[in-house]
Amino acid sequence: MSVLIKGGRVIDPASRTDQVMDVLVEGDRIVRIAPGIGQQANRVIDARGWWVVPGVIDMHTHLRQPGQEHKETIATGTRAAAAGGVTAVACMPNTQPPIDDASVVEHVQAVARREGVVGVRVIGALTKGRQGKELAEMGEMAEAGAVAFSDDGDTVADASLMRSALQYAADLGRPVIVHALDPCLARGGVMREGPVSLRLGLPGIPAEAESIVVARDIALAAATGAHLHVAHVSTARSVELIRQAKQAGVRVTAEVTPHHLFLTEEALEGYDASAKVSPPLGTEEDRQALRQALADGIIDAVASDHAPHAPEEKEVELDQAPFGAVGLETLVALTLGALTHQGVLTPMQAVRALSLAPARILGLEGGVLAEGARADITLFDPAQEWTVEPARFRSRGRNSPFAGWKVQGRPVGTVVGGRIAMLAGTIDDG
Ligand code: DOR
Repeated sequence: MSVLIKGGRVIDPASRTDQVMDVLVEGDRIVRIAPGIGQQANRVIDARGWWVVPGVIDMHTHLRQPGQEHKETIATGTRAAAAGGVTAVACMPNTQPPIDDASVVEHVQAVARREGVVGVRVIGALTKGRQGKELAEMGEMAEAGAVAFSDDGDTVADASLMRSALQYAADLGRPVIVHALDPCLARGGVMREGPVSLRLGLPGIPAEAESIVVARDIALAAATGAHLHVAHVSTARSVELIRQAKQAGVRVTAEVTPHHLFLTEEALEGYDASAKVSPPLGTEEDRQALRQALADGIIDAVASDHAPHAPEEKEVELDQAPFGAVGLETLVALTLGALTHQGVLTPMQAVRALSLAPARILGLEGGVLAEGARADITLFDPAQEWTVEPARFRSRGRNSPFAGWKVQGRPVGTVVGGRIAMLAGTIDDG
């Protein structure tokens, strides 16, 4: 099977390429990138006016399988990814049972091979049962294929245990991904603490709940030499701590979600449970700091934190609703589209944050468009205007805080290992 993608704007941060060219794919590899390739192919895609970029890797996805298939499955979550222009996801271990030993890692990988339509890489739990008491079998999980470790959804409260986890992860050459939120400060909170939470009469989570843990874990990463990755950064203070740590040479990387880049605590005004996320949405000052940090490269990646929940779980009193928003079907449109149209990022920076940066952080093969590289490619139409309609999502989750938003720019093709998983919105289940 060969695919010729003709006349698109090829943007590849690794080689600093930004040029209209053709891309020829044979089997699962890119074999040629050049202007005006004359060769025949089984499929020819007219990509004039589109961007052709390294396959987007969403490094923070909740696929919910095993155990919470009423929220999402590997089949539906990877179809949502394909629809959203995402060629691979890294899935978080807060499943039931949690992904905390090699057999569950292998199980998820086997289901993904059978039922998935995009790549699935597994993040193993840091602690047994995600209980924060005892380290999980990280070595065995790494051997089985886990690319990173995290108790995402919860913070490891015990600093001594976190230190050991970082030491093990350093030996294994894998990053530790921290969900930074001090459990005591965050307890009972629904949204960011401040004037808005007071006005709405909702219990708040202070900004320091995040930055305290970011500071602690940066200190532990510096001491152990481990690679710490801070998930979904949400406060200006955390950005400052990460900036200083990077300047001091600590191995720290960070990601931000579209919801923290586009929304603030004001999104809770209407008591919309889709805007109840962890960490909570911050102030306008935080939002601006996150945007600046992404442009400066202090924050490396944009990730969805796709967190699907069943409608009946979210449609309850706000303090009862679970935290989380779906994001796989808006990640690429908001990052490559809205952030570049608003002048926050250049197209090159936006592509880097979605493909090259996550590939490097997780040590994956993807993230580049080059002859000989694996043919994971995202096609993006920067001009297409569309409205976010959760009812049309491939995900089982409908809990999007962007429902009704008009967005300019839409993913139009998802090529996974040379296979066209999505073209013009149609998913190929192959
Ligand atoms: O809002 C969130 N929901 N943040 C997380 O980190 C976990 C996620 C979930 O699993 O629902």
